Amino acid sequence: MKTIDELLAEGVDGKRVFVRADLNVPLSGATITDDGRIRAVLPTVKALAEAGAKVVVASHLGRPKGASDPAFSLLPAAERLGELLGAPVAFAQDTIGPAAHDAVDGLQPGQVAVIENLRFNPGETSKDDTERGEFADRLAALADVYVGDGFGAVHRGHASVFDLPARLPHYAGYLIATEVGVLKRLTEDVKRPYAVVLGGAKVSDKLGVIDHLLEKADRILVGGGMVFTFLKAKGYEIGASLLQEDQIPVVQDYLRRAEERGVEFVLPVDVVAAAEFPDLKTKAPANPGTFAADAIPSDRIGLDIGPESGKLYAAKLADAATVFWNGPMGVFEHPDFAEGTKAVAQALIESSAFTVVGGGDSAAAVRILGFDENAFGHISTGGGASLEYLEGKTLPGLAALEN
Ligand code: 3PG
Repeated sequence: MKTIDELLAEGVDGKRVFVRADLNVPLSGATITDDGRIRAVLPTVKALAEAGAKVVVASHLGRPKGASDPAFSLLPAAERLGELLGAPVAFAQDTIGPAAHDAVDGLQPGQVAVIENLRFNPGETSKDDTERGEFADRLAALADVYVGDGFGAVHRGHASVFDLPARLPHYAGYLIATEVGVLKRLTEDVKRPYAVVLGGAKVSDKLGVIDHLLEKADRILVGGGMVFTFLKAKGYEIGASLLQEDQIPVVQDYLRRAEERGVEFVLPVDVVAAAEFPDLKTKAPANPGTFAADAIPSDRIGLDIGPESGKLYAAKLADAATVFWNGPMGVFEHPDFAEGTKAVAQALIESSAFTVVGGGDSAAAVRILGFDENAFGHISTGGGASLEYLEGKTLPGLAALEN
């Protein structure tokens, strides 16, 4: 994989450099609630601009359906990029149309433009190679060189991630180089004990990674919505909590395999539950109660791991040498259900292990809950991407940069 340093050594002065970033930031209306992904691409954009490139930044945001949709405009992200760079950033209101060409043609060496959400064009995510290829051809017309730095999207075989690098000289940006370096430390010669904390809503999203971790990790701590399928699989009463009934046999198989292999599966001993899912806008008190994990009342929804579980998880992380964490422990956006996620974050901060926070949600949780990012070994910008890397899958966006 050629890196941006090699590109800078070759010289970029006056060249149009297409930077595929992942500016898929969480938004509340037009307000960015966590700008971590924008800050993460700054070193690449700055280095190119300082070397005199005409920098064209592109990204997806959300999942619009192949057509323009103002709710998913990249304009707020472009404005934030400009603020962080301390320089004006031009914004094109289309991706491959006249506005994009005007914006790029108007760039002086050292200046930056952002084009509109790539997913406003159906070619970006198309499963049809020809349609994707045509879109990639049109994107290629905007640039002389390609720099891949959207780590959060490298697991997508999309036009700007996979097809475009084949059409231009291509290099990996600083973010991708850093992220891949960290993930290598989790897959090659990992320091033990290796503990993994997994959260998030659905167990079905984590099947591949659990499968893989059963061979690699020493301890797997589970939280978030998916934990209730584990508790149900153990025969516990989970009340009205989230359940993926069809996954119960799969989960039972995991618990059996873990026992066989001596991998410790750690599940909560208590749970914070409420009668209704909380209002995340008003954050009105949700009147939660704490219940034993095997006795959640039938009319209660489990929304966080309980305080005893927080202590248990902290103890299980205390002597680890490597920790990977993906997915919040509860509905951390509401203060009544944030303690479990805070307990895990605090345990990671206090640990002397190499700690990696993987994933859009857990990375955002760490920042939104006010933890110091620098207290963690690494906060990844990629959720799905880091999980798929850990599963040992070939990631299209990395494969494209290798070739
Ligand atoms: C992410 O948020 O994980 C990345 O930006 C990829 O987004 P996607 O899941 O919509 O492809």
